[in-house]
Amino acid sequence: MMSPQAQVYPVIWYEDSVLLIDQTRLPNEYTLVEISRCEDMAEAIKTMIVRGAPAIGVAAAYGMYLGAREIQTQDREQFLTQLEEVARRLRSTRPTAVNLFWAIAQMLRTAYETIGSVEQLKTALLKTAQNINAEDLQTCRAIGDRGLEVLPATPDKLNILTHCNAGALATAGYGTALGVVRSAWANGRLARVYADETRPRLQGAKLTAWECVQEGIPVTVITDSMAAHCMQRGLVNAVVVGADRIAANGDTANKIGTYSLALVAKAHNIPFFVAAPVSTIDFELSTGSEIPIEERDPSEIYAIGDTILTPAEVEFYNPAFDVTPAPLITAIVTEHGAFAPSLLQAQLQDRYVA
Ligand code: MRU
Repeated sequence: MMSPQAQVYPVIWYEDSVLLIDQTRLPNEYTLVEISRCEDMAEAIKTMIVRGAPAIGVAAAYGMYLGAREIQTQDREQFLTQLEEVARRLRSTRPTAVNLFWAIAQMLRTAYETIGSVEQLKTALLKTAQNINAEDLQTCRAIGDRGLEVLPATPDKLNILTHCNAGALATAGYGTALGVVRSAWANGRLARVYADETRPRLQGAKLTAWECVQEGIPVTVITDSMAAHCMQRGLVNAVVVGADRIAANGDTANKIGTYSLALVAKAHNIPFFVAAPVSTIDFELSTGSEIPIEERDPSEIYAIGDTILTPAEVEFYNPAFDVTPAPLITAIVTEHGAFAPSLLQAQLQDRYVA
């Protein structure tokens, strides 16, 4: 175990390469993987060594720099053409989290807008990746503070249910949904976190629980099917989750199982908050039905470790995300404040989206 209170940074630029916390090995092993080639970063995103929408964005930004560094030409036009190839490779890794596409777009914009030699372009790209990394950390802290303002006033100490991992590991650090939890804990407003285990990959049981333990935050892990029971029994005062992509009308894609949580929260009159940076809002999509949903390998369902769970003959369907309709969401908490889903466009698009 790391020392209590240790800061968790899943993506770090160190000397001349990127260090990733290998999230496939937590909580049993804390291992850093060194990435110095774009192709290795693409694989790390695809295999979920790094995961969580904002963390994928930060990793992809560094991936763009690593790819740029590998380009040999000194001709600007040829460089930009090859950089587009690097962008295509990184975009192909995971389809749902829009932060990936957002970060790659920021990097391409830097390349096109920087005047100078290819070497100067490369230097500018590293700077942009580092800025995306640093800004995400600030953004998460702001989300934490804004979230604290809208949590229910009673009881004094809240039980908060969360799903998957929207914590430090899923961002540059601190977290979005877990950022709100961290702020509530720091301000004496948190009694306990209920962490859904989050089948099939168990990000809640493995990662959210690990983060809470690092900080001494009381955490109870439940299986996904226990959430409704806990709400019915009055054990949950608020649900706070992250997001992978939010459409302009507020419909929100997040880890599979989020939609059913929102339905149950509504049935029990429990507030349901989505915590996410503005970079997770895709104003180009008018509703959630347009959000591409990643389907992952069936082995995530039919096996746990080396143990096969099902008969060989059955078929599988393994969507990694679902879409929660906006009317089920009490508020979307961003770094600029908390908004009713219906107000996202009016309040945020013109002011904060370039
Ligand atoms: O498949 P994952 O582990 O990348 O999915 C992560 C989630 O669904 C998170 O809730 C979301 O990315 C928000 S992370 C701040």
